[in-house]
Amino acid sequence: MGPTAMNEFVVRGQTGVSRILTGITFEKLPEYLPKGNVVIISDTRVAGLYGSRFPEGLLLTVKPGEKSKNLQTVSRLSAKMMEAGVDRSWFLLGIGGGVVTDLAGFVAATYMRGISCGFVPTTLLAQVDAAIGGKNGVNLKRYKNMIGTIKQPCFVLCDPLVLNTLAAEEWKNGWAEVIKHGLIADSNYLDMLHREGNRIRTGDPELLTRVIEGSVRIKTDIVNRDESETGIRSVLNFGHTAGHALEKMLRIPHGMAVSLGMVLAAGISRFLGLIREEDAGYVTELLQDYGLPVRKKINAGELFRAMVTDKKKKDNHLKFIVLEKPGRAKPVEIPLPKLGELVNGAVKECFV
Ligand SMILES: NC(=O)c1ccc[n+]([C@@H]2O[C@H](COP(=O)([O-])OP(=O)(O)OC[C@H]3O[C@@H](n4cnc5c(N)ncnc54)[C@H](O)[C@@H]3O)[C@@H](O)[C@H]2O)c1
Repeated sequence: MGPTAMNEFVVRGQTGVSRILTGITFEKLPEYLPKGNVVIISDTRVAGLYGSRFPEGLLLTVKPGEKSKNLQTVSRLSAKMMEAGVDRSWFLLGIGGGVVTDLAGFVAATYMRGISCGFVPTTLLAQVDAAIGGKNGVNLKRYKNMIGTIKQPCFVLCDPLVLNTLAAEEWKNGWAEVIKHGLIADSNYLDMLHREGNRIRTGDPELLTRVIEGSVRIKTDIVNRDESETGIRSVLNFGHTAGHALEKMLRIPHGMAVSLGMVLAAGISRFLGLIREEDAGYVTELLQDYGLPVRKKINAGELFRAMVTDKKKKDNHLKFIVLEKPGRAKPVEIPLPKLGELVNGAVKECFV
C-alpha cells in the first residue's frame, strides 16, 4: 500500500479536544507526542508485530482479546505504572485494537485522577469506531462496558498500513461498523461502499483511506453533536441491540452479530412502514458483498428475551434504532409487547 494524503478531523468535547488523523503513518507519531515520559499500553500480538516502531517509553502489554478488558487488568496496569513512578506529567499511549484503546482510555481517565492520552488504533474497527469519541471502559462479569468514563484522547493516529496484517475476521468486524455508519448517516457514502465494494475489499489504498475518512467523519460529527449520548449518539447503536443479544446467544464474532442485527433492524423498520422492501434488500445485499452473514436460524422468543435484558430498557419500552431510509436513522421507543411481535415477524421473514 502506498502513501496517501493526510486529513484531520476534530472532536470538541466537554472532556477535551481530540484530533483524529487519517492517511498518516506510524512514523509521524513523534510529531504528536508531547515532550516527556511516555507509557505505552498494547497487546502482545500488536507489540510483536509493530513493537520495533513504537516510540521510546515504558511498554505494558495485555493478552489479546476481550478477556483482558476487565478491572483486574486495569488494576495490574495501574500498579505497574505506580511501581515505575508514572505521575501526571506522563503521557499514556494506547496502541492496538478496540480492547486496548478502551482499556488505555480508562486507565488514562482514572490513574491519579487522569493523565493525558493518545491512541494508535490498529484494527479497522478501532480506526473507524472504538478509538473515536472518548468512550472507554471495561466489562464487569458478563456485562460489556459496564464501567467506564468519557475522556477524549489528545490524538488518534490512523495508519492504514497496519491493517495489512489483520485477520479476515477482524476486517469483517470493521466492515460491519463501516456499513452501519453509512446506513445511519450518509447515503452517498453508502453508495460508494456499494459501487466500489470489490476495490475497497482488495485493499485499494486510496479507496480504503476514503472509507476510513468517511466513517471517521460520520462518527466525529455525531459525537460533536452529542458527546455523552443523551440523544442522537444513540443512532450508533443501530443493529447493536439485537447484535449484542445474538453475539451472546450464538457465540459469534461481534461483526457477524451486528450484521444480523442490522438485517433485523432493517426488517423492523420495514414493518413499521419506514422503509421499502427494496431498501431492506439493499441493506442485505451490501452486507453480503462484504462477506457478512445475513441469515441465521434462530429462535425469535429467545432473541427477544436476550434483547430485553439489555441495559437500555425503560418503563416497559425499549429504545430501538430504526432506519428512515438507507442513510438516515433515528431512535424510537417501542413498547415491549409490540417489539416482541416485530422481532418475531422480522426473524420469520429475514432469517428463514
Ligand atoms: N469505545 C467505543 O466507542 C467502542 C466502540 C466500538 C467498539 N468498542 C470496543 O472495541 C473492542 C473490539 O475492538 P477490536 O475489534 O479492535 O478488537 P481487539 O482489540 O480485540 O482486536 C482484535 C484482534 O486483532 C489483533 N490485532 C490488532 N491490530 C492488529 C493488526 N494491525 N494486525 C494483526 N492483528 C491485530 C488483536 O491482537 C486482537 O487479537 C470491544 O471491546 C468493543 O467493546 C469500543
